[in-house]
Amino acid sequence: MLIIDGKKVSLDLKNELKASVESCLASTGKVPGLTVIIVGHDPASQVYVRNKAKTCKEIGMISTVIEMAADTTEKHLIDTIHELNNDPAVHGILVQQPLPKQIDEFAVTLAIDPSKDVDGFHPENLGRLVMGHLDKCFVSCTPYGILELLGRYNIETRGKHCVVVGRSNIVGKPMANLMLQKLEATNCTVTICHSATKNIPFYTQQADILIAAIGKAGFITADMVKPGAVVIDVGINRIEDSSTKSGYRLVGDVDYEGVSAVASAMTPVPGGVGPMTIAMLLKNTLQSFQRINGL
Ligand code: GUN
Repeated sequence: MLIIDGKKVSLDLKNELKASVESCLASTGKVPGLTVIIVGHDPASQVYVRNKAKTCKEIGMISTVIEMAADTTEKHLIDTIHELNNDPAVHGILVQQPLPKQIDEFAVTLAIDPSKDVDGFHPENLGRLVMGHLDKCFVSCTPYGILELLGRYNIETRGKHCVVVGRSNIVGKPMANLMLQKLEATNCTVTICHSATKNIPFYTQQADILIAAIGKAGFITADMVKPGAVVIDVGINRIEDSSTKSGYRLVGDVDYEGVSAVASAMTPVPGGVGPMTIAMLLKNTLQSFQRINGL
């Protein structure tokens, strides 16, 4: 079985991005800048935001983190976004989710200038993706990272049956729509399963490419997978493990041990899809810089 190594691919990508940032500096005297806003003190979000900022700096981009109190009003957050929309040194804006209850996430997404929406969450970007204008939009980072992995590992996709389990706006919906496009690493027949789907194994057993984005540890078991399938695991679930220092460990939505005996290729957790997400965020920020500067 082939292990699809997202950690290695993300390192290659970061090296490529670093070289691109250097050539941006040489040709314009400027570098791309990403501003991340975090509201409140969610520990998982703090780790994600710290990693984004660190990786940004590693490849030579400017990273700014704006930390806001948990009781921040929606108006204050949106006013700040409007300032960033008008700041020429900011090429990418990301508001870390989840947001506190008093803030409407959709209103915040709508406030971000689509040309700086490096998360690809704005309906204008998602709409362009659905219409196949991938060169004129931002693709949300996790699905974009999966596409990059399929491409770099030369996974045959044309005419294959891709089954996506999960229908979130961040992963499931853009992922399924990408796999449907007429591109080299896509061009699939696509099925989407979700919480109301009856008999999920009936569908997953038909998948040549199975993408699990459910958020439930070990949901996909070996009996649900067609022999020889390519299995992409988007899940990051904490499960208790008293043998580790932290008391927990990270597992995916796929039962790795069981499914690896059936699949032809698979992404591990950790080290599969996860490391690709930040790399694609930086790729989107670079792309924003290049578009804004006419490169
Ligand atoms: N929270 C978890 N993943 C993401 C992401 O990709 N973008 C944002 N903005 N928030 C998140």
